[in-house]
Amino acid sequence: MGSEGSSPDRQAQVAVALQGKKVILCVSGGIAAYKAVYLARSLTLLGGDVRVVMTEAAQRFVGAQTFAGVTGNPVVTELFTDAPFAPHVELARGADVAVVAPATANALAKMTAGLADDAFSATLLSVRCPVVVAPAMHAEMWDHPATGANLAELERRGVMLVGPDAGSLMSGDEGVGRMAEPDEIVAVLASVLEQARDLEGRRVVVTAGGTQEPIDPVRFIGNRSSGLMGFTIAREAARRGGKVTLIAGPHNLAPPGGVDVVSVGTADEMREAVLQAAADADVVIKAAAVADFKPVQHSDRKLKKAAGPPDISLVPTPDILAELGSTPSLRKPGSLLVGFAAETEQDPRRLSELAVEKLRSKGADLIVANEVGSNDSGFGSRTNRAVIASSEGVADIGLVTKDALAAALVDTIAERLR
Ligand code: PMT
Repeated sequence: MGSEGSSPDRQAQVAVALQGKKVILCVSGGIAAYKAVYLARSLTLLGGDVRVVMTEAAQRFVGAQTFAGVTGNPVVTELFTDAPFAPHVELARGADVAVVAPATANALAKMTAGLADDAFSATLLSVRCPVVVAPAMHAEMWDHPATGANLAELERRGVMLVGPDAGSLMSGDEGVGRMAEPDEIVAVLASVLEQARDLEGRRVVVTAGGTQEPIDPVRFIGNRSSGLMGFTIAREAARRGGKVTLIAGPHNLAPPGGVDVVSVGTADEMREAVLQAAADADVVIKAAAVADFKPVQHSDRKLKKAAGPPDISLVPTPDILAELGSTPSLRKPGSLLVGFAAETEQDPRRLSELAVEKLRSKGADLIVANEVGSNDSGFGSRTNRAVIASSEGVADIGLVTKDALAAALVDTIAERLR
């Protein structure tokens, strides 16, 4: 485990870099696929969340079950399944780094051409994280000008190369073409991940969950927000180096590591906490479902059923997002304001229109509009159907896990902060 020959300090740094990172291991069909098993094991033991995708040819050398056993995760081998998601898109979203090991001459050629005719190549076309390739092939194939040209083009696009090494090849020949050793690949991945902290030094405020507006000591006006969306964004922002304050309404979720959590109950309490934190924040992300109305007054004592239905008058709560959007002095100059829009529209075109409307009405820089009318999107679900709108246009994210939506949102934010 770790980088052979490296100091104990460096090994500890490698483990920190890999901890909890989503690593996509793309295995193509060569004898070196057996070394990819060791790579998968090392990455997993170092704390990486290793997801493997294999070509059909790779499965002739090593079974998918071996990788599943070593990583504890299912292995993707098919482009078309019965699952509600395209497996390669789900695999690619939120990935911290992808490594192609072994990368055959054919795999490099497909990557260069942008082909997507199997789960392996479709995943590589979908990832937006750094990509590392560890080529392995016969020396003649490595020396061929086509392979050289493909690698040059991939490197131009930012793909990083590790190996190949010289030594004895499967053909019995000696030459360049052996896949780099797993420890060397682990070390390269760790340094790539150390660079992938694109919110380093940024202050991020995230709101989550629903507010509860009391009617009496036991009853309130509230909504069905679980807090998951906001918590997931907070975790993603912290993972990418942000100093995150999470302002949360009542919830049953474990706080993400490395995040300061401020607990609030009502819209007024949330406003106070948000305004305080927003003053020096680089980005404020309002995923909370703040109640729009609260009772004019609430009883200090439990209202008795026998007294009949209470007459409850409501007044609007403060619109925190709109206040931040219309009062620049409340925020750090140059900071970003991100709102959410909970809509019952499923049609992405209509969702986009509503997102653009809310962008204007709230004075936000980005609006994530998500559909809240069905079981698989919005309140309490693991997934969300969403679009992200900015003054530059609308990106349709589709139906994805909240992890994937958080990653896409943080990608957009990091890009704009740059
Ligand atoms: O928590 P989960 O179960 O994971 O569900 C996630 C979610 C569906 C709650 C989340 O993805 C979401 O859509 N959050 C925003 C819900 C909402 O209040 O939407 P809205 O369209 O009513 O409000 C628009 C924006 O104004 C939101 O950013 C909201 O935080 C903000 N707002 C609203 C009212 C108010 N008084 N103050 C506000 O700041």
